Amino acid sequence: MSRHHSASRNFLASGPLRGTVRVPGDKSISHRALMLSALAIGKSTITGLLEGEDVLATAAAMRAMGAQIDRGADGIWTVHGVGVGGLMQPAAALDMGNSGTSARLLMGLVASHGITASFIGDASLSRRPMGRVIDPLSLIGAEFTASPGGTLPLMVRGLCPAVPIDYRLPVASAQVKSAILLAGLNMPGITQVIEPILTRDHSERMLRGFGADLSVEIDGDGVRTIRLVGEAELQPQNIEVPGDPSSAAFPVVAALITPGSEVTVTHVGMNPTRTGIYKMLEAMGADLTYSNEREVGGEPVADITARYSALTGIEVPPNVAPSMIDEFPVFFVAASMASGRTVTNGLEELRVKESDRLALMAAGLTAIGAKATETEDGLIIDGSGGEPLEGGATIISALDHRIAMSFAVAGQNCARAVTVDDMSPIATSFPGFEAMLEDLGAEKCPII
Ligand code: S3P
Repeated sequence: MSRHHSASRNFLASGPLRGTVRVPGDKSISHRALMLSALAIGKSTITGLLEGEDVLATAAAMRAMGAQIDRGADGIWTVHGVGVGGLMQPAAALDMGNSGTSARLLMGLVASHGITASFIGDASLSRRPMGRVIDPLSLIGAEFTASPGGTLPLMVRGLCPAVPIDYRLPVASAQVKSAILLAGLNMPGITQVIEPILTRDHSERMLRGFGADLSVEIDGDGVRTIRLVGEAELQPQNIEVPGDPSSAAFPVVAALITPGSEVTVTHVGMNPTRTGIYKMLEAMGADLTYSNEREVGGEPVADITARYSALTGIEVPPNVAPSMIDEFPVFFVAASMASGRTVTNGLEELRVKESDRLALMAAGLTAIGAKATETEDGLIIDGSGGEPLEGGATIISALDHRIAMSFAVAGQNCARAVTVDDMSPIATSFPGFEAMLEDLGAEKCPII
């Protein structure tokens, strides 16, 4: 993987943001498209793949395990899969870079193949908990040798045939759910995952799309039981990846907080397991309109128009958290400029993302003059009532792309510049982020 020199940058308020932009492909869907294409027999194509470092780490790993993956000059990716059960022993450690999704989902794939793989990652990923996948994947018979605390670097020795499990998720995590389902593809019998709290369902949708026998039953309390019939034969597909609603949240919030703005983001994935951010912004009074609603590759898609709005603080119900889990950093920015108080709780998972997002957002917001208090499992924010925040501080982004982008957005409504210490992590999920802000009229600030 490429390693960057850190580049700090100033973000300054520069007047209304206006225009129409498209954000890169959905990260979650891009990972899954590469993995399932690599497990189908024959040729799949992927259009709109996110060409960010996280997804490229998945592509490199699938190549290292035997799939043929190429990018055409037209930007369409072609994958020749090896078939379920056909993954080969990688010759070197799989470098996951900054990508938790690559690491956890690929561990699931390796776990039920008769191969051994080492997983390494950057400093951020090497701090993140892997016990949540090691536990269920050990139950199917895979063997793990992890670093202290159940972290990377680690080695997985897969087992084939492995033993299917019936597993109730102890943490609301689409990555854990997906790791188990992907492992289940190459096992005899039925793998069952019980999901008490709904998380993103891209794996379920795409597994079905590739022809896997997967069913979902939902009981009266909303508890989902997902059943996957093993020894699946996946059929190659032509996949179109919608724009990432997590990435779209940045220009949307930038427009909402910057007076006079009107921004349209086209082709945004609107899967209801991902749109909590938009519902909560609307609850705060955001002027959002959706147009051109359609379906792309089994996922709902729309264009979103966001206009500058007077926002009011809200209490975010904890059960909404999984559908906006990656959007809290930029949501906190919106809250810091709303009128009144925003209260969040039940967000302990934010402490084990690319960084401790509760701690870093509280610190960064406080540094630019916002009133943010960190609790054990959330933030309490008293907004500025639409007034610009002070700015004039340097933000520590700690290898976390979403912290960096959130403060670039915050800078659009601050009296003095907001300096983000290191913009390089943005390449993991949103290549072209700064160019997009400039297209909307944000001032181009020199690298400092
Ligand atoms: C993801 C699931 C979420 C999310 C991550 C992507 C996925 O993580 O935060 O960015 O693609 O399955 P968890 O499964 O840890 O909640």
